[in-house]
Amino acid sequence: MKRFTLFAALVFLSGAAGAAEKAAAPSPFQRSAALFQSKCAKCHTVGRGDRVGPDLKGVTERRTREWLSGFIRKPADYLDKDPEAKKLLEKFNGVRMDVPGLSSADADGLIDYLETASAGGAAGGTEESALAEDAPEERITLPEEGRRLWVPGLAGAFLLAAGAALAWRTAGGGPAAVLAVAALGSLYWSAGGRARHHLLGDQQGYEPAQPVAFSHKTHAGTLGVACLYCHHGAEKSDVAGVPSTNICMNCHGAVRKAAGQAGPSPEIAKVVAAWERRADPKGPRLEWVRIHSLPGFVHFSHRVHVNNEVRCQECHGPVQTMERMRQASSLSMGWCVNCHRLAPGAAPTHWKRAGGPLDCAACHW
Ligand code: HEC
Ligand code: HEC
Ligand code: HEC
Ligand code: HEC
Ligand code: HEC
Ligand code: HEC
Repeated sequence: MKRFTLFAALVFLSGAAGAAEKAAAPSPFQRSAALFQSKCAKCHTVGRGDRVGPDLKGVTERRTREWLSGFIRKPADYLDKDPEAKKLLEKFNGVRMDVPGLSSADADGLIDYLETASAGGAAGGTEESALAEDAPEERITLPEEGRRLWVPGLAGAFLLAAGAALAWRTAGGGPAAVLAVAALGSLYWSAGGRARHHLLGDQQGYEPAQPVAFSHKTHAGTLGVACLYCHHGAEKSDVAGVPSTNICMNCHGAVRKAAGQAGPSPEIAKVVAAWERRADPKGPRLEWVRIHSLPGFVHFSHRVHVNNEVRCQECHGPVQTMERMRQASSLSMGWCVNCHRLAPGAAPTHWKRAGGPLDCAACHW
């Protein structure tokens, strides 16, 4: 876990390859920036608004260096005794900042980092690129969700209704009723029923209930947590992976209720229960329902796409707005191939390379 957060931090900071070389000899500033990303960024931003904790932009102006250093090293002491800290605790719903023992050199470095980042310096907004915030004009695979096949559906319904009327006159009630039902079915299909029923293998729009009401809108949208923070596999392997409860507990160790809730959230309690009894084979597990799934004879790799700067949202749709996760794209062969056909001029400019393989063996082996 530690190794991963540091790795993710370095990637956020460098935004590209070259992370490895930079990691070889980081300056003290880079070290503090990485420390911030790994220990603090899950709860704080610098200049992008409050998250779990307050926006830290300009904090070095509102507080003295001594106060900051003390608070960062021993938040618990301050939260118990210091009047300013108590006020913050109240404002942030009783969530207690909790960071494991930092040295005073670490704290000094972090304060320098906060000062520079507040002034719009180097690493202020770098997580943003990892979150790949909406850039609709650059999104090329339009999530076809909600697309209604009005023309063929209505034409079909019309023909069937006409057939029913004709059958009523010539063949009697039985065949007419069959055709009338088919006409109604076709109307339903064209008006959106299609999104709920699927031809074999087509899972577009699939939106199953999950064991915990986990919201990407809250986590990836409002709180601005980077996709790779939870799905770190996407960058270095074929599969993106769904996070283990450890990752949830990085925050839910402290966060037990959502804004506006009077008592602890029952949904978060399920996460905590799964984590607390993780060693117990009979304990509760979070068994997430798998949504996206290609047939076994197709080879797909996240790593190649993600390292080419193809954004998650270009394939998965506006995930950061989804209360419940759903499959936004069809994942059909045509969908893959149409994107691979895009010539450099037509492809989004943020990609490193346009054009993917079209030969059968690239995807089928
Ligand atoms: C688990 C979430 C969490 C983590 C991790 C975290 N903080 Fe906080 N932080 C908070 C919360 C919440 C507050 C508001 C006080 C409270 O309720 O505990 C806060 C308050 C602060 C404040 C005071 C802000 C002000 O306006 O005066 C500073 C400074 C701060 N944090 C720095 C850090 C640094 C540096 C790190 C990383 C070493 C860090 N925090 C890690 C949640 C967190
Ligand atoms: C706080 C952790 C967290 C963050 C941040 C997060 N996710 Fe997820 N993601 C999950 C969990 C947990 C699941 C499984 C539950 C579900 O499907 O809602 C999941 C499921 C998914 C799935 C569906 C997996 C399947 O079964 O097919 C996709 C796609 C996905 N996330 C993409 C993203 C993208 C894109 C982002 C960034 C915009 C993101 N996630 C940010 C935790 C996270
Ligand atoms: C970066 C910190 C962070 C991480 C990591 C995180 N959460 Fe959260 N989560 C929060 C915060 C903060 C809230 C409260 C949001 C609000 O006030 O609306 C929350 C809210 C929730 C809620 C909604 C509670 C309710 O009753 O409305 C659920 C469920 C939840 N989280 C589950 C998870 C799961 C499962 C994971 C791991 C896959 C996870 N969280 C990872 C910070 C985090
Ligand atoms: C080029 C399109 C594409 C991009 C870009 C992409 N995905 Fe996926 N994703 C897919 C496909 C296709 C599947 C189904 C894979 C399978 O069944 O083998 C999938 C499956 C998933 C799953 C569930 C299965 C798994 O691999 O664990 C998660 C979670 C996920 N993606 C998250 C992400 C995140 C996070 C990003 C961005 C960092 C991302 N994806 C970028 C196409 C993409
Ligand atoms: C949004 C556009 C997009 C979609 C959708 C997409 N790809 Fe790609 N894919 C690319 C690009 C761009 C490359 C070239 C990457 C490079 O050269 O680094 C690529 C490369 C590949 C490669 C070559 C990997 C390698 O090792 O060189 C494979 C295999 C692949 N894609 C499979 C798929 C499959 C299977 C799907 C559908 C399930 C899919 N892709 C959907 C854009 C896409
Ligand atoms: C970019 C990746 C990619 C390439 C290149 C590709 N395919 Fe596919 N193929 C897929 C995916 C993804 C599916 C699964 C579609 C689904 O489940 O609906 C698929 C499915 C199929 C199927 C099953 C029938 C179907 O449509 O579901 C056949 C047969 C097939 N491909 C043959 C080929 C042949 C022949 C070539 C070379 C001309 C080729 N494919 C090239 C990605 C690819």
